[in-house]
Amino acid sequence: MTLRLGDIAPNFQQESSVGHIDFYSFLDGHWGVLFSHPADFTPVCTTELGFTAKLSEEFNKRGVKAIALSVDDVESHKNWIQDINETQNTTVNFPIIADKDRKVSELYGFIHPNASETLTVRSLIIIDPNKKVRLIITYPASTGRNFNEILRVIDSLQLTDHHKVATPANWQQGEDVVIVPSLKDEDEIKQRFPKGYKAIKPYLRLTPQPE
Ligand code: BEZ
Repeated sequence: MTLRLGDIAPNFQQESSVGHIDFYSFLDGHWGVLFSHPADFTPVCTTELGFTAKLSEEFNKRGVKAIALSVDDVESHKNWIQDINETQNTTVNFPIIADKDRKVSELYGFIHPNASETLTVRSLIIIDPNKKVRLIITYPASTGRNFNEILRVIDSLQLTDHHKVATPANWQQGEDVVIVPSLKDEDEIKQRFPKGYKAIKPYLRLTPQPE
């Protein structure tokens, strides 16, 4: 299956480091970050999962539940979690799906046969509370992902879902945003953006980040 932005993330049931998981029940109306990694007991994956664990407060603040996946089994995940906790000085507090039969990996397109016949690639999907897929990224096995960037995308999605704005390149929380080009009515603009805006071009209008 090829998942695309806007698709509904499919449900699944699978074993994990914390027991049997029904994905939709796990999400329970929250935002979700589902990410695959090539294998347990590998260096880059160890740092990625450790860093994600360290960000757990940040995920919680945004109402996001993280869940990892590889094709290793539950016992391997549990043993590896001890290593992650020890070496990354953290506590992994999210599940790792044990996708031994590749059921979820195939459902979500996490196996790219020309990269590896057997291992999952480094993919990551952001799912909103309506279970819509909002971001899909895939990195090569040799490159660890930037999980601060994932938080930045979640901030952008949560902001732009509620205001008629979009976030410019490298935007960070608190910085100016752009007014969506489809919003033309000056009265509505004044009402939505009482702090005003700066039109650099008619299509490039900057305004302070709305509350
Ligand atoms: C790693 O996570 O360190 C890794 C996994 C597969 C290939 C190369 C590196």
